[in-house]
Order: sequence, then C-alpha cells, then structure tokens
Amino acid sequence: MTEDFVKTPQVQTLLNQASGLLSEGGDKRLKDITRDLVEAIMTTIVKHDVTQDEFWSAIKFFQEAGPEFGLIVPGVGLEHFLDLVLDARDAEAGQTGGTPRTIEGPLYVAGAPLVEGDVNLTDDPDDTDTLYMTGQITGPDQEPVKDAILHVWHANSKGFYSYFDPTGEQTPFNNRRRIKIGSDGRYAFHSRMPNGYSVPPEGPTDRLMKALGRHGNRPAHVHFFVEAPGYRQLTTQINFGDDPFAGDDFAFATREGLLPVPNRQGESAYIAFDFELQRAKAAGDEGFSARARAEA
Ligand code: DHB
Ligand code: FE
Repeated sequence: MTEDFVKTPQVQTLLNQASGLLSEGGDKRLKDITRDLVEAIMTTIVKHDVTQDEFWSAIKFFQEAGPEFGLIVPGVGLEHFLDLVLDARDAEAGQTGGTPRTIEGPLYVAGAPLVEGDVNLTDDPDDTDTLYMTGQITGPDQEPVKDAILHVWHANSKGFYSYFDPTGEQTPFNNRRRIKIGSDGRYAFHSRMPNGYSVPPEGPTDRLMKALGRHGNRPAHVHFFVEAPGYRQLTTQINFGDDPFAGDDFAFATREGLLPVPNRQGESAYIAFDFELQRAKAAGDEGFSARARAEA
C-alpha cells in the first residue's frame, strides 16, 4: 500500500466528514486545520505501516502524557520551530534586529512580586554561588527604554523551579520577580546560581527522549520577558555558555547571542547582558502571546 491510499475518495470523504467540513456551523479555520492534521496522521500510518499495537500504544502515551505536553513540545523541537517561523515572518516583514527571541518553556508563573532597584530574586536557602546580572535595555538606536518591566525566572541549584518543584521545598516565587526598570533602562539583580534542568525522571517526556536515544537535559539558564510601552514584547533566555549542555540543549533554546559565559570569581559569578528591543509597529506587538500560564 502507498500513501496514495489516503487520497482515495473514501478516505478523503471520511476526512471531510470527520473534520466537520460537510456540516453547518462550527469554526471554518478549526475544520481546515483539523482536516490537515488528521490527514498527516493517516499518511504517517500508511507510510510507516504502523501496526495496531503501535497505534494504540501511542494513544496510551498521549493519554498519560497530558500534564507533560508543555515539556514534550520543546523536547520534540516544536517550540523552537515556532521561533523559527516567527523569525521568518519577521524577516519577510523587514522587522529584524535586536536581541534574539527564544522559547518561553513551560515553567513561567504569573504574578511574581513587582520590585524595583538592585533586587534579590532568591527567597529560600540555597547553598551555592551567587549570580550577579546587570545590563541595559535599549531600543534599536541604543536609546534607553523607559518604564520597562523585566520578568525573570530560573531554577534553583537543584535545577528545580518554584511552583513546579517536586520536593515541595520552595516558596511560591523563589527565583521569580518582575523588575520595574527606570528611565535609564538599567537593571541589576542577584540570585542563587541556577543549575541545569532535567525533565522529571521516568515521566512521559523522559521516556520519549530515551526511546528516541536522546536525553532531557538543559544547560543552566535564566528566562526573561521584557515589556515596555512603545516596544515589542520579547521572550528570551540566556544559557550559561560554560555549561556542559550549552551545545546540547534538549529543548533547542540555546541560540547565538544568548550564551554568555559567567565570569566566576570565588563564590560569585557575573554576567553582563544587554537587551535590545524592537519598536512596536503593529497592534498587539507590546503584549504577550495568549499562551495559558500558571498563576500563583
Ligand atoms: C523545559 C523546561 C525548561 O526550564 C525550559 O526552559 C524549557 C523547556 C521542559 O521541561 O520542556
Ligand atoms: Fe527553563
């Protein structure tokens, strides 16, 4: 059997019926996308002679994977692919330059304390070095960006994020802040040094990665959202350039220009990193994607 089987009238009619294209009502765009998605699955089944056992074990995997979908999406490269799509659309629209975007990941929590000045992000004890990060947020002409809010979040030295910590040891906003930036665009914070992150051992993402002959590790990293009136919202992260996984991130978030090497001096480490934002041009440029996020 060849993939042409999916193009037979019987299967094509099935697809049109199943996606609601032959029904009144419903959402036309959803119908079109559902149709193509299901057709892609059918084509894959035929192309690879997928057996009954393989198909149903895949369905069982998806059923069990539910809560980890946010981890699987970066793991299989789809979240990075979305960045590549946005970059390509920007290039077509001539909207380029500034600090590269990179994936948000699944571990942001809304509602972190809004603070000002040279701030400490770490509330909980953590016996490790101190990270000092400083820099400036500018626009395309190197003008300081006024009234920005810098959202920062990172893991602790065990690689666990507050709110999502399986040990339950962290207070809700440990290593999470929203920093209100003044008119000079400068920021400064310090925190307990994060370590690399791994997906939950033996969970669905870990099992998938192992079955693919891969791993579920990320280099130590710090996440940012930057928002400011008149500028385009930026989602990015820095990954430590000297981490063993800096060149082998399971989530594909490491990008050129986002891999600073911390300057390590005894129990302190320093990173200087400037953000350059694009100017907002279209409605909605200043705002966040409508992605559902945890709230504490
Ligand atoms: C994942 C975890 C992260 O901390 C991150 O930044 C990106 C992805 C994950 O578990 O998939
Ligand atoms: Fe992360």
